Amino acid sequence: MSLTPPPGARADWTIDQDWSGYTPAEHEVWITLYERQAALLPGRACDPFLKGLDALDLHRSGIPDLKRVNEELKRLTGWTVVTVPGLVPDAVFFEHLANRRFPAGQFIRQPHQLDYLQEPDIFHDVFGHVPMLTDPTFADYMQAYGQGGLRALNLGQLHNLARLYWYTVEFGLLQTPQGLRIYGAGIVSSHAESIFALDDPSPNRLAFDLARVMRTPYRIDDFQQVYFVIPSLTALVDATLTDFGALYQWLQSQWDIPIATILPTDRVITRGTQAYAKEKEANPA
Ligand code: PHE
Ligand code: FE
Repeated sequence: MSLTPPPGARADWTIDQDWSGYTPAEHEVWITLYERQAALLPGRACDPFLKGLDALDLHRSGIPDLKRVNEELKRLTGWTVVTVPGLVPDAVFFEHLANRRFPAGQFIRQPHQLDYLQEPDIFHDVFGHVPMLTDPTFADYMQAYGQGGLRALNLGQLHNLARLYWYTVEFGLLQTPQGLRIYGAGIVSSHAESIFALDDPSPNRLAFDLARVMRTPYRIDDFQQVYFVIPSLTALVDATLTDFGALYQWLQSQWDIPIATILPTDRVITRGTQAYAKEKEANPA
């Protein structure tokens, strides 16, 4: 991907949100998605997510005006949300994160895409990701990830580090005294996966292990076949504070672990049936 921003975007790929430019139909899409998830997530999403969602008051008039959201977010953890036209190059993305700026798609999905779309839109990015950025521990993790991403890019190890993002920031589960809770943005922004990730007998749910996660490929086309469970957000930060240099070296001599495999060394929380993935494989849509 070229590093030249598309016409109309700034050098750092940001564009204005142009909040007054959203149509009533676009606000309606936000409200529909918001209400569906807000009703489903208590008891499923982790407390920091639900607290953040509340603190940022993300539903008032449909698609939130990020000027207002940013005032509160900045006050809480020093993060801001910036808008971009769509996916941005890795280096641009990491540079924003390293400076506590979260790049969010400016556009919203069409009414026929409520359940699935390929590029992250403002609902996935703002509803899914931004509430967790109000949590000081998670806020630090995301900044560290941005710094680590720039480094991994230089070292040619991004394929390993990207798996960490996938299995934490996007699809992470958290163990709590009340049971498993979701913190991953890819799950909380999806109605069907918010149910599947916690309740379905199909996927494996394994205790988070940094090196193990970095050896595990992921799928972008359907529900995950494996979720990794962290014991706490601080445990995630502690596990990733170390210098990844030696780990990257070691990973170069290791095989990828097939996605549904359980290793003897895994701490298994749920041994999945993989029934969902097998059925899909037998009868592709
Ligand atoms: N500790 C990592 C490194 O040395 C940086 C990092 C921190 C990466 C947190 C991801 C998450 O590269
Ligand atoms: Fe995302």
